[in-house]
Amino acid sequence: MEAPVKPFSREQLPRHIAIIMDGNGRWAKNRFLPRTAGHHAGVSSVRKAIEYCGAVGVEALTLFAFSSENWRRPQQEVSVLMGLFLATLERETEKLHKNNVRIRIIGDRTAFARELQEKISAAESLTSTNTGLNVTIAANYGGRWEIVEAVRKVARQVVDNQIEPDAITTEVFASNLCLTNLPEPDLFIRTGGEKRISNFLLWQLAYTELYFTDTLWPDFDEAELETAIKDYSGRQRRFGYTGEQVENLFVNPGLL
Ligand code: FPP
Repeated sequence: MEAPVKPFSREQLPRHIAIIMDGNGRWAKNRFLPRTAGHHAGVSSVRKAIEYCGAVGVEALTLFAFSSENWRRPQQEVSVLMGLFLATLERETEKLHKNNVRIRIIGDRTAFARELQEKISAAESLTSTNTGLNVTIAANYGGRWEIVEAVRKVARQVVDNQIEPDAITTEVFASNLCLTNLPEPDLFIRTGGEKRISNFLLWQLAYTELYFTDTLWPDFDEAELETAIKDYSGRQRRFGYTGEQVENLFVNPGLL
């Protein structure tokens, strides 16, 4: 997974990229193919994104593969998607492990077939101590679901007298969400032309730079990802400060 050149400096490179992979259906329709052909083609863009991020030194890549609302799609499309997750895990896990990739799935996995749940757990435990790229697949995931799950966990801690309500800070609450040991996404990418967050990582995207492209997911390759990162690297992230404060911070990090 070594890129020939590292095109970005450490400061220019997002540590964590989160992607909504949209446009598979339209890609297929444009070619008079069934929608599911677009999902098959989308898997190779997933592979390219993982390899590129690993090669340039991104720490975490989080991909929205299946939302809690996607169950509403035609039954045949849902079962092709489930089959693709299973086949991809079976085919790619060993190779990802050899490349030091850590795989995690976020979302309510209890709705998946037992075989898929077992493959997910096996891939997670095989790669759990890997120290390279963190790949997280959001499957049967919704941002509101995640927040409600965290509220439940915190409420149980209160009922069990493990924490006082007044001690619930932003940090305490966030430690009950998914992705706790990863930096929050620096760059969010949505392919396929829509400009929405669609219930993805609602809490974690609070300060993330947003990038939207009309490119359909199966056409999103290394060059497209490089363009997105270049766009990101030219932005000034302010986190509520003024532009001048941020510039001073670079000169003298102790000022703020
Ligand atoms: C959105 O395109 C895409 C999905 C709902 C599925 C994403 C799945 C993959 C890329 C393949 C499998 C992934 C893994 C991680 C193995 P859409 O169908 O909504 O496209 P449309 O907006 O053009 O209809």
